[in-house]
Amino acid sequence: MNTHRQDFPLLRDCKVVYFDNACQTLRPKQVIEAINEYYQDYPACGGRSMHHLAAKVTHKCEEARSIISTFLHAKRKEEIVFTRNTTEGINLVAHSLGLKAGDIVIISDKEHNSNLIPWQVLRDKIGIEYKIIYSKEDNTFDLEAYKQALNNRVKLVSLGFTSNLDGVTIPANEIITLAHKAGALVLLDGAQAVPHRKIDVQDLDVDFLAFSGHKMLGPSGTGVLYGKYSLLTKLDPFMVGGDTVASSTYETHEFLPPPEKFEAGLQDYAGIIGLGAAVNYLNTIGFEFIEQQEQMLNKYITTELKTISGLKIIGPSDPKERGGICSFYIPGKDHHQIALMLDETSKIMIRSGQHCVHSWFYAHQIPGSVRASVYFYNTMNEAEVFIRELKKVVSIL
Ligand code: ALA
Repeated sequence: MNTHRQDFPLLRDCKVVYFDNACQTLRPKQVIEAINEYYQDYPACGGRSMHHLAAKVTHKCEEARSIISTFLHAKRKEEIVFTRNTTEGINLVAHSLGLKAGDIVIISDKEHNSNLIPWQVLRDKIGIEYKIIYSKEDNTFDLEAYKQALNNRVKLVSLGFTSNLDGVTIPANEIITLAHKAGALVLLDGAQAVPHRKIDVQDLDVDFLAFSGHKMLGPSGTGVLYGKYSLLTKLDPFMVGGDTVASSTYETHEFLPPPEKFEAGLQDYAGIIGLGAAVNYLNTIGFEFIEQQEQMLNKYITTELKTISGLKIIGPSDPKERGGICSFYIPGKDHHQIALMLDETSKIMIRSGQHCVHSWFYAHQIPGSVRASVYFYNTMNEAEVFIRELKKVVSIL
């Protein structure tokens, strides 16, 4: 019996089989309560007004920053910048780093649009270049190709830590060491990594790490950009205005130190406080249990999927290399149709399509995939229901 399910309103009476966790996870009551508490008890503005409700908002938001800082083992809480999502964190770095014409950014062939489009825009606007590291046959990272690509024009290596397409994790430690030797900074898109295993930013020595709250039990539209403090101080904010400056005149302004200079305008206080509650909750669950549960479910799902005629799994066939994600397609059978039928017949929720990695699907001439992504609150019984119903749907399509 997975007792954590009682904390998730949607799971209490097994109303749905929710296997769309790579898109967004469900939220436990502790997070919902923290958000409600903000709106009911102190729905004020942080960092500005002097009254006691405003002071409480500021205090609770800074508490959330500390919780997240400790969770990542950051050196100081000022290294945590609140954003709306991973995309905003990547855009912040892209537009604030001061890249110039001829500078190279390294990415991979499996990047989410949020780690591809910003570089295309900067290429068109200021003439940067981006170099794509193509994955090996089994869709894992090609370290040799990466070593060859590094040179003194590479200013940034920007990679998805764990792929939302197939669940494969890159060898980040080695990648970062090599980048630093070549004089490049490293930005990791941690959207699919931070919710699933222990990340220690100091141990990794990563320069920037962007991730989303809504993929780790937090409120939608919340995110974090971690950055080494020494680097954040050098970055020019790309979104500016209220609360980013200490003062201004008609002619000039003086920016506040990080993280304030990056958090322009009134913030999502309820979201930030809810994200703090989500991280507290994850801390009580522990990553050992999370990884163990995901592995157990993905092992069963993978073994069963392999018995379906013509079905192709994207990425390595070994589920150990794909975390909690299993992405697959069956040539001739429409992925959206499969998803719709699973929902209509059995309330099974998975994602279908190209998962914002259009470039990879286009290059491989695959129309799209069905993606099941599990989290610690999912059960073996749900995995069995998913497989049983999938087999039925596939047999009639
Ligand atoms: N990037 C998220 C996903 O893969 C939205 O579903």
